[in-house]
Amino acid sequence: MTSRIAVFGTGYLGATHAACMAELGHEVLGVDVDPNKLAMLEAGEVPFYEPGLEEVLRRNIAAGRLRFTASYEEAAEFADIHFLGVGTPQKKGEFAADMRFVDSVIETLAPLLTRPTVIFGKSTVPVGTAERLGARARELAPAGQDVEVAWNPEFLREGYAVKDTLHPDRLVLGVDRHRPGRAESVAREVYEQLLNEGIPFVVTDLATSELVKASANAFLATKISFINAISEVCEASGADVTVLADAIGHDARIGRRFLNAGIGFGGGCLPKDIRAFMARAGELGADQALTFLREVDNINMRRRTRMVELAREACGSLLGANVAVLGAAFKPDSDDVRDSPALNVAGQIQLQGAAVNVYDPKAMGNSKALFPTLTYTSSALDACAGADVVLVLTEWTEFRKLLPSDLEAVVRKKVIIDGRNCLEPTTWRDAGWTYRGLGRP
Ligand code: UGA
Repeated sequence: MTSRIAVFGTGYLGATHAACMAELGHEVLGVDVDPNKLAMLEAGEVPFYEPGLEEVLRRNIAAGRLRFTASYEEAAEFADIHFLGVGTPQKKGEFAADMRFVDSVIETLAPLLTRPTVIFGKSTVPVGTAERLGARARELAPAGQDVEVAWNPEFLREGYAVKDTLHPDRLVLGVDRHRPGRAESVAREVYEQLLNEGIPFVVTDLATSELVKASANAFLATKISFINAISEVCEASGADVTVLADAIGHDARIGRRFLNAGIGFGGGCLPKDIRAFMARAGELGADQALTFLREVDNINMRRRTRMVELAREACGSLLGANVAVLGAAFKPDSDDVRDSPALNVAGQIQLQGAAVNVYDPKAMGNSKALFPTLTYTSSALDACAGADVVLVLTEWTEFRKLLPSDLEAVVRKKVIIDGRNCLEPTTWRDAGWTYRGLGRP
């Protein structure tokens, strides 16, 4: 069945969701307050790098199923099913999530709702938000009690956003148990194709659905910090964390994924989500339950410092050293540099007096905007020209494929530090390089 859907927010989450809902055959209107983003999307251009999204966007615009607007009036007139996909960044100077974008969608949209409506929240929010927004929307809306707010958390990963939206591991829906309504049946219509494919569909209450998302990201962050903590012990004892991860990963209860030790996690989600989770638990009087996440955060931030130390050790002193940085995005196949470990390390090294030359296949524009004082080059080879040490900080395929012979002619010293354990140590050592990985002998 074809539904008419409005999606609020056209960032990584909203733009992907809008395009993918149209791909499922629905008529979709993407809504944003940013005229630049809207102009790009209308022209079939994705304002960020996300493999495969542009094709889906263009195909559905051409088919007339996908449009964009800045007008909430138009959205309220067009659809009775609304998805809320705006950002919940970290508040300045606090751990808590900044809810102003989410709140402003409800404050603007609800007064325009004259017909029965279901609003599905997708943003990552503190537990209790959905209930609060539902009450507020009913208070503001002319349709009053006929407005429902349900929560449908999103688990997509940048770099795999289209696949994760159209073929997710699971769908989760939180409905208001105190006011049974249409949310579940509407969701079943919207996601009919996915449900027919047998994708697990977990229907629960609002609070559980909000906590599912917070817990999933907290678990992933913990898994990464676990292996990074072990990697510190490996370094102290001469063991190899990559072999260790392979070995424990064979245990199906543990699993090998998200056990890659390196300079740790970053991005617009995991770091701020674990902090917001701690803050919310504190508000609820359950702060002790999540104090371990503080340690998860500490371990993670320590990896960045460790990387700077290794670079210093390699150069003797960072003052006047020439450092090549390969990778600026927080992970490969993304141009996102929000809280990127790679850029953070590059910045720290520069502040300690080194000349830092950065190259990333996709994240140059965003990096320049965030860290304008670093030097940016147009290729990996240019970044390595005259380098005293080469740091691989994001595991792009382009860097994994580098051979010692590619760099030998340009570097000053044959020293490479692999911040993502993505290179083959013997390849480099056999070619006369000093190779260092994190948590490897
Ligand atoms: C993460 C979650 O994986 C998604 O499920 C979730 O929907 C999303 O946040 C969100 O909340 O919106 P994402 O931020 O795109 O997705 O990135 P991840 O693939 O989770 O990687 C996060 C960071 O962890 C990256 O910096 C990556 O380099 C690092 N990482 C990942 C490691 O250091 N080691 C690993 O083994 C895996």
